Amino acid sequence: MTLKQYSWKDGPDLIQQHSVAKHRILEAYLAAYFRTLVSSPNQDVLRLTLVDGFAGGGLYVHNDTREPVKGSPFIFLEATREAEFHINKDRRKPVQLQVDYFFCEADRHAQMHLDKVLREAGYADRIGNGIYIEHSRFQDKADAIIGFIKKKSPKNGRSIFALDQYGYKEVPTHLLRKIFDALPSAEVILTFGVDSFMNFASDGDQVRGLLDGLGIPDIFRGRSVEEIKASDRDWRLFLQSTLYRRLVENCGARHFTPFFIRNRGGHGDYWLIHMSQHHRARDVMTEVHWANSNYFIHYGGAGLDMFQMVGYDPSHDAAYLGQSLLGFEFDDVARRTSIAALTEHIPRRVYADDSGISFGELFATTCNSSPASARIYRESIGKLLDEKAVEIIGVDGTKRRSSAQIMDSDQILSPPQRTLFMTG
Ligand SMILES: C[S@@+](CC[C@H](N)C(=O)[O-])C[C@H]1O[C@@H](n2cnc3c(N)ncnc32)[C@H](O)[C@@H]1O
Repeated sequence: MTLKQYSWKDGPDLIQQHSVAKHRILEAYLAAYFRTLVSSPNQDVLRLTLVDGFAGGGLYVHNDTREPVKGSPFIFLEATREAEFHINKDRRKPVQLQVDYFFCEADRHAQMHLDKVLREAGYADRIGNGIYIEHSRFQDKADAIIGFIKKKSPKNGRSIFALDQYGYKEVPTHLLRKIFDALPSAEVILTFGVDSFMNFASDGDQVRGLLDGLGIPDIFRGRSVEEIKASDRDWRLFLQSTLYRRLVENCGARHFTPFFIRNRGGHGDYWLIHMSQHHRARDVMTEVHWANSNYFIHYGGAGLDMFQMVGYDPSHDAAYLGQSLLGFEFDDVARRTSIAALTEHIPRRVYADDSGISFGELFATTCNSSPASARIYRESIGKLLDEKAVEIIGVDGTKRRSSAQIMDSDQILSPPQRTLFMTG
């Protein structure tokens, strides 16, 4: 199905609830991002650049309620204003947020509409002076924006790129790699229309050209889509998991969230992939997903091997997890399932090495393939501690009695005497 595209030719266009869901996630993430970044009482300035690569026209009308709905550029601007207020309300020394915004929009009508509504909302003075509205394709402006950020924040290139494309073709992996290579603290929130891609893939021949363009060639290891469909009962799952893995591998980010949004109205599921270079950034987004359980589901099991789809036995998974393979929702059931799965998987990692593994390493090296947040890891380790299946030792040699305060540097070890049950 081809998605209807917005038009701002005659004022704000209609927006569906499933697109508003994306806005809620962006809002929640930005609030959590600011909270996490400005935690030191001595900090007096935060330099950040927010890039909306596919900005749209700024304003919509809700399809059901007919209420006005603000688009992503407003979400960025208002998130900063709110963060500035919350961060500074109890501080003696205020933190100054030095935020620049780039809004790229390829469509002339949309770009003009965005310019108009921002001016009407009181941002006229800042347009061209901290707020840059570009009538351009994001791909064509990316180098200049990266250059700007490098100059502004030479050490870390702190920035967030929201790349909310229609479909799946506009953001090739080499463009993402360029961002991560140049800007170590950059984060990307990428929309990828996985259902549209799957419909296109069902068509067969043109897929290879498209994948080459996206920078993910050879994903099917010489097999045609027709062959895969004929040989694999779960061909959709196979294609999606292979595509997903290659996409994130090739984009050069160390951490990513494997979650997607289901459009309950049947408009096509899409992935909202958060990519970053630090596991803490990844954890902030994971917490946002758990807090917005209505919108997220994802494939696979709840343990550490969620995306090991090739050679994966769905019937085993379904039986083990007591739920359908595609049914993972970020709810209480999922939380319990995740804890159960982690309490089974974590000991395997811990027992594999006599010196155990630090909490930081365990989390950083496994979180990409698990839907669990650091909080859920802690809870699972707490259970293992209660069951005496592991012990936790701090760097100063102190034995921890609870996992609530577990530090990244704490070592998780196999207990001196493992029970029979555990060694089996
Ligand atoms: C999904 S809409 C964006 C919605 C917007 N992010 C929001 O949440 O309000 C995608 C927008 O990208 C624009 N667009 C399409 N291709 C583009 C490109 N290569 N670079 C920049 N904008 C593009 C379209 O005109 C459309 O306005």
